[in-house]
Amino acid sequence: MASNVPRKGALGYNVKELWEAGIGSVPTTFVQSASAQQAFTPHDDETHAADSIPVIDLSGLQEGDPTRRAATLAAIASACQEWGFFQVVNYGMSPALVKKMHKLGREFFDLSTEEKEVLAKDPKNPVGNGYGRQFLSSTNSTEDWQDVFFHYLLPLTHKHIDSWPNKPIAYRETMEEYGEGVLKLTDMLLDVFGELLGLKTGYLQETFGDTMLNARLNFYAACPEPSRVLGLRAHSDPNVMTVLVQDHVGGLQVKKGQHWVNVTPIDGALVVNLADQIQIVSNGKFQSVEHRVVTNQGDARLSIAMFRHASGDANIGPAPELVDALHPALYPTTNYTTYRASFHRKGHNGKVLPAQ
Ligand code: OGA
Ligand code: NI
Repeated sequence: MASNVPRKGALGYNVKELWEAGIGSVPTTFVQSASAQQAFTPHDDETHAADSIPVIDLSGLQEGDPTRRAATLAAIASACQEWGFFQVVNYGMSPALVKKMHKLGREFFDLSTEEKEVLAKDPKNPVGNGYGRQFLSSTNSTEDWQDVFFHYLLPLTHKHIDSWPNKPIAYRETMEEYGEGVLKLTDMLLDVFGELLGLKTGYLQETFGDTMLNARLNFYAACPEPSRVLGLRAHSDPNVMTVLVQDHVGGLQVKKGQHWVNVTPIDGALVVNLADQIQIVSNGKFQSVEHRVVTNQGDARLSIAMFRHASGDANIGPAPELVDALHPALYPTTNYTTYRASFHRKGHNGKVLPAQ
């Protein structure tokens, strides 16, 4: 390892600094095991280019044209059953707002380490607010090649706006506006999912209770050894659903059967993925799918993930309407705080839903 490798400070490594120091090889804490390295290559999409995640125009839901609405609903149903992931366009927010949000997030990471560390995250708290490293779980200690900023929007008791980036100056007000847009979009999608599953109107919202919403900004520096390192290890999200804005760089991959498929960046689109609580409530009809991020030597990448969670005191299990003699409950009913805590013990380490 080169002698100019920045020291690991109290807050752990910082991948942006490692890249900027011009290191030729990464510290061993980032190196995936030999067997894990076999399971990915930085650009392994080419062989499965025919398989790509669905892109859905949500304006089809608003139209007075019933045929178009039915086709849009069918596309969403198929995406939820087959992929658990889709990209959306015409999602009810201005694409300019989404771009501005992404740009401000990127400008935050362009600040010096000292400026970012004013809002440092407690490295021991997996859901602590602020800037730093993603948590290390007790079962996997290989680190991901990313620096993060984590903060809540809801509930208001968790929000602490003082813990959000205050540089660049427009970050906070833009995030408030973007958060409203994400809330509306996910409300609308929950209504659609309920309709597609044949559940009573409002059933999903009632089951999930008061919304918890948080942002995680994922900064993936360019990486000198992309074939040995992952930006984010494979996992399924523990929450209800996630809305993500990425840039032109790419690196997010979704598992489809035995293959990993790239989520090809589309300018102005948002990526939506179903998370574990939707799979559970739908009794397995809809999928929460494993995904991961690979790195590259060329460009840094920023994604902003908005996680819509259930309320901490919600108890979530398969909807009774979806359980019968032919379709037994596949999952136990679990308190959401308990579920999330077990996710954080496990860490980003594949997909493991509790079986009934
Ligand atoms: C996540 C996630 C993907 C990405 O934050 O849970 O899967 O592209 N992010 O950063
Ligand atoms: Ni994820």
